[in-house]
Amino acid sequence: MDAKLILNGSEYEFPVIVGTENEVGIDFTKLRSRTGAIGLDPGFGNTGSCTSSITFIDGEKGILRYRGYPIEEVAESASFEEVCFLLIFGHLPTPKELFAFRDQLTHHSMIHESLKNFFEDFPPTAHPMMILSAMVASLSAFYPRSVEPREVDLNIVRLLAKAKTIAAFSFKRSIGQPFVYPRNDLSYTENFLHMLFAVPAEPYIVSPVVDRALNLLLILHADHEQNCSTATVRVVGSSQANLFASVSAGISALWGPLHGGANQRVIEMLEQIRDDGMDYRKYVNLAKDKDSSFRLMGFGHRVYKNFDPRATILKKAADEMLAELGIDDPLLEIAKHLEEVALEDEYFLERKLYPNVDFYSGILYRAMGLPTDMFTVMFALGRLPGWIAQWKESREDPAARISRPRQIYLGEALRPFEPLDLRAKSPEGVPTEPELVGV
Ligand code: SDX
Repeated sequence: MDAKLILNGSEYEFPVIVGTENEVGIDFTKLRSRTGAIGLDPGFGNTGSCTSSITFIDGEKGILRYRGYPIEEVAESASFEEVCFLLIFGHLPTPKELFAFRDQLTHHSMIHESLKNFFEDFPPTAHPMMILSAMVASLSAFYPRSVEPREVDLNIVRLLAKAKTIAAFSFKRSIGQPFVYPRNDLSYTENFLHMLFAVPAEPYIVSPVVDRALNLLLILHADHEQNCSTATVRVVGSSQANLFASVSAGISALWGPLHGGANQRVIEMLEQIRDDGMDYRKYVNLAKDKDSSFRLMGFGHRVYKNFDPRATILKKAADEMLAELGIDDPLLEIAKHLEEVALEDEYFLERKLYPNVDFYSGILYRAMGLPTDMFTVMFALGRLPGWIAQWKESREDPAARISRPRQIYLGEALRPFEPLDLRAKSPEGVPTEPELVGV
């Protein structure tokens, strides 16, 4: 099957690629060399940057699969370590492989004491996403051979194992408590919870309810094909930058409120609605008002034009977790009511704006006892295996090239450069103080 293009009276044919689930892509790799034209698609809403075998999303049907496994089944039965292994190495681990992988993750959880000292120089108000991005990039200083292929698998383990320690240390730093070192007798999630919440004064027992919720949250965030931060990791990795540098860039991209930063903004929005007398209709109308910058955070998605399956799972998990912990969080009811009011409104229905993964996740993070500025860090920890898997897949692709988009130039046409004549005495009105003018 080919696609035909008629441009300036000439007809061109381009090959068509059909994916496993019958998605259709027009292969434009020769478009410019054959036609002189480029495709223009700001935001890449209609542009595929790669082929991939890791994750499949059908936005119209609300389908998400990791290596072919439905998210609902993976979320119900897998451990986060299994999902990491599946996404990164392409198959579910055998029991032997899983034990070996877990053992590696456990024994690489410590960070170099010099790296630990970096925390001392961040201001206490430093956002934990900034710290996570900086510290992950800094890992390449401690593993200088991180660009050598045979080091990649070891660096993958180092990154997965140490990122949770870095995240826990940044939380402890922000609340002025001493760091809690990782323990080798705990699972990945138990170890993380222990580093987050243990205090020297008393033993900390990991709640199975909280541990189960954390495992679910990390799995649901693990990968999501070519989202903004994953595309960033691939672009940075395409220059042959090392894994740590590439993922550090992904962390920064995730931080934005339109992406992973939304989970923090959702809670802040729900608190604003609570403090403003629960006037749901007011905020739904504000979200519709083009003159207002207010958006319903946690709503809408570039791909899902139906329910985000992760939001459906998290809404149910939030109910269960709060009931099991005996927590009555009014923000959960406010979120549910806001969802109801929005989904009765034509504006949201005709634009197919539904709750996304960020709409309910913050309720569970709050129930765990985390502050809102740690929420996006939790998203990043979940997304780590996805970033790593996508980076590895692109680096193992023999046809991969450096990412370098083109543009259509709309600026000034050719004009001569006329240097300033500074020899004349300073004319009246020239500012004597160096002022920023014309910006
Ligand atoms: C994540 O890509 C991924 O997979 C991301 C993610 C992942 O797992 O990696 O799923 C995680 O980032 C989820 C999204 C988190 N962000 C938010 O919740 C922020 C609020 N949502 C929006 O800003 C928006 O919906 C985006 C950013 C998610 C999607 O933006 P798009 O695809 O560019 O859509 P758009 O801005 O062009 O919106 C289309 C229309 C516009 O109205 P019209 O111009 O047609 O009149 O819908 C409106 C938008 O104004 N709209 C909203 C809205 N989201 C879209 N109006 C009010 N509130 C909203 N939240």
